[in-house]
Amino acid sequence: MTSVPVLGNGDIWSAEDALEMVRRTGCDGVVVGRGCLGRPWLFTDLAAAFAGSDERVTPGLREVASVLRRHAEYLVDFYDGDELRGCRDIRKHIAWYLKGFPAGSTVRNQLALVDSLAALDELIATMDLDAPWPGEPAEGPRGRAGSPRVVALPENWLRGRELDDAQRAQVAQAELSVSGG
Ligand SMILES: Cc1cc2nc3c(=O)[nH]c(=O)nc-3n(C[C@H](O)[C@H](O)[C@H](O)COP(=O)(O)O)c2cc1C
Repeated sequence: MTSVPVLGNGDIWSAEDALEMVRRTGCDGVVVGRGCLGRPWLFTDLAAAFAGSDERVTPGLREVASVLRRHAEYLVDFYDGDELRGCRDIRKHIAWYLKGFPAGSTVRNQLALVDSLAALDELIATMDLDAPWPGEPAEGPRGRAGSPRVVALPENWLRGRELDDAQRAQVAQAELSVSGG
């Protein structure tokens, strides 16, 4: 038993995942990483779930596009009005926002290259903004997932470092376990 609050983290994609994490581990709360990418309203769902409510935020594409547009504006502000920089930053978030929505590959590809707020507005206007929340296809993993990132050392790195044999063996073993050789 500890008096320090323990927070659960990892693979929380929905409020239900958070409830399950608390139920199964007895942790005091949760921390969300990738789950809120393109889904900032997840925190509204978490607050509702922990207050015992079944209510969940299920925005249609019009609302999602408006949140995405606001996010882009905030990024431009964050970069002191540098619109290109803000737009470059929003690009990676767009696919997460659009997860599960009917947006064709052409508009998705164009959005991935967006370089101004005006261009973003034009592209948003080409989408079917009446599309409702897609449900299941919008749920689940977003952000980096799957296999661990491969870690590789530069060629001859181990030979060139001031390590004794035992340390060298240890580092080599660590690299093997990550990269699979
Ligand atoms: C955008 C982003 C930034 C993160 N930054 C940090 C960080 O600075 N330090 C850290 O220890 N973990 C960081 N993490 C890892 C998360 O805190 C979390 O442990 C990890 O993503 C697993 O939780 P998840 O399954 O909810 O993503 C970051 C994760 C994301 C998605």
